[in-house]
Amino acid sequence: AQTITILGLESSCDDTAAAVVRQGEGAAQILSSIIYGQTELHSAFGGVVPELAARAHAEKIDLCAAEAMQRAGVSFEDLDAVAVTAGPGLIGGVLSGVMCAKGIAAATGLPLIGVNHLAGHALTPRLTDAVAFPYLMLLVSGGHCQYLIVRGAEDFKRLGGTIDDAPGEAFDKTARLLGLPQPGGPSVEAEAKAGDPAHIRFPRPLLDRDDCNLSFSGLKTALMRARDQIVAQKGGLTHADRANLCTGFQQAIVDVLAEKTRRALRIYLQETPAVPLLAVAGGVAANTAIRAGLETVCTEMGVTFTAPPLRLCTDNAAMIAYAGIERFRLGARDDLSLAARPRWPL
Ligand code: KG4
Ligand code: ZN
Repeated sequence: AQTITILGLESSCDDTAAAVVRQGEGAAQILSSIIYGQTELHSAFGGVVPELAARAHAEKIDLCAAEAMQRAGVSFEDLDAVAVTAGPGLIGGVLSGVMCAKGIAAATGLPLIGVNHLAGHALTPRLTDAVAFPYLMLLVSGGHCQYLIVRGAEDFKRLGGTIDDAPGEAFDKTARLLGLPQPGGPSVEAEAKAGDPAHIRFPRPLLDRDDCNLSFSGLKTALMRARDQIVAQKGGLTHADRANLCTGFQQAIVDVLAEKTRRALRIYLQETPAVPLLAVAGGVAANTAIRAGLETVCTEMGVTFTAPPLRLCTDNAAMIAYAGIERFRLGARDDLSLAARPRWPL
């Protein structure tokens, strides 16, 4: 195969990122991957503030791209194309990346490739483990939750997803309701370790429906009610109460994801893949209990389970550069009319 080297840019949420990825024969190599996070910028507001995010992306993206190229030891002549997240995401941020990529393309004559952020996540198992199509992808992050059969670099079949909140969002809101630090996922998981799973039982939303859709907003309401009930009875939450609430909440998410994954796998297995495989991506994939639940289902159904290393599970530009390589090989090219899209379903 022809050796392809691509600079990738990502700025669709609260990370400004740039990376250089190269692939010849065999596995792709990440030559550099730079991420400027914005956690501190937004920490006082309890969520990402789009205006602040857009400004920070605009300030950082050029530097970030230059740094990625310098660390990779490449110049523009060494690149085959520049790939950029063109959506979905916060429009101000997406625009920063797209404008930067267009500037590079206009100045150097390099081809421009717009990448769907979700495709970036969905193709990551091919970057890290060179897995073969078709595989099932469960994307679980702070902003997304969906099942995709990945049949090709431009061929995704969406089986279902959340109809309201993403699971990471539910973890973050739960942490806020219980006075635990952000991001909520790790703090709720840590707290849950000391809890008794039999103590408080939360609902398992949408399990009565035989599809791959999920819902997490009701869980947050149930948690709030359970918390208020304890507070009304005892005047406050003990450490044990908090742990029990976290365990009950996390167990509901584990159970729902396990059962919906079983359903998604049944549909996926109808495609009779040679090596059936489930891959996860997104920050929530870091959760040990959720991983264990998914692994159990996979073992039960004879499916291999894989998760990219966490730094490639969460938002990064290496996945965008890599998706760019796959699209480049398929002949995809965009021009300076490439649009930034806040919504862009796969
Ligand atoms: O993929 P990601 O870094 O960002 C986007 O969603 O864009 O995911 C972040 C989300 C946050 O909501 C965070 O609370 C959640 O992933 N998360 C976790 C854990 N670690 C991070 N959720 C549950 N358990 C964890 N251990
Ligand atoms: Zn993402």
